Amino acid sequence: MSSPESISTISRHILEKIDNFQHGTTGIILGSGLGEAITKLDKSITIPYSEIPGLPQSTVKGHSGSLIYGFINEKPILVFSGRFHLYEGYSAAEACTTVRVMGEMGIKRIFITNAAGALNPQYDAGDLMLITDHINLTGQSPLTGPNHNNWGLRFPDMSKVYCSELRKIALEAAKAVSVRLERGVYMQISGPNLETPAETRMYKMMGADAIGMSTAIEAVAAVHMGIKVMGITCLTNKNLPDCMAETTHEAVIEQATKSSAAMSSLMKEIISRLD
Ligand code: HPA
Repeated sequence: MSSPESISTISRHILEKIDNFQHGTTGIILGSGLGEAITKLDKSITIPYSEIPGLPQSTVKGHSGSLIYGFINEKPILVFSGRFHLYEGYSAAEACTTVRVMGEMGIKRIFITNAAGALNPQYDAGDLMLITDHINLTGQSPLTGPNHNNWGLRFPDMSKVYCSELRKIALEAAKAVSVRLERGVYMQISGPNLETPAETRMYKMMGADAIGMSTAIEAVAAVHMGIKVMGITCLTNKNLPDCMAETTHEAVIEQATKSSAAMSSLMKEIISRLD
């Protein structure tokens, strides 16, 4: 499912379905409850994941499972609405299929979005956070196993995962559309269970501002393939170790859906500012 051959088969299937796929397309992965963040693309085509042979299927409520190609202000974008997670039973490499397919299609820039819990006490549910760096605490890497040299190096550098030029554009765009955009470190755990208060205390001490179950491994797979990465987190709940509130998946989806409008206006502004 995640071999170079199967990634190239999936990307060929997608390219056959999209007339006139453009060089310079920006890839986007939409996280839980954020399916509404990118809608109404010009000249768009939607392909359900179920019609793309070899592509894993999203098994989680809140992840729609469709691929959309279209334009915002003449800028071509390819949107994977729905992702694959370690907690669904996928390996790290399988969970990064979307990223590798985009790399195989020649995409050089991807925007990763996600829903996550706030660990930084200054951040609130409903805030958006620009990812400055990550901590991969899953114990897994999409690069485990034989290296595919055409994709990237055996030991890729991770000193600058989240592209500084894209971060600058994101911060300027946020100002222009009056969306508050915090900055911070995203930590990925495997899930699916949420954190205990003691774990939350430890994760904060380790330097994380937000915690979720995706993104870090996707960013690693992207950097391995030489793709520039920007990450935006939608903070859906606040985790304070000394007065831990209960969190449900439904509440996470509800908050992410509420934040979709802010995510959407920010994304559109960022895309409009790209070369
Ligand atoms: N922890 C882990 N993943 C999450 C959370 C959380 O609090 N909220 C949304 N995804």
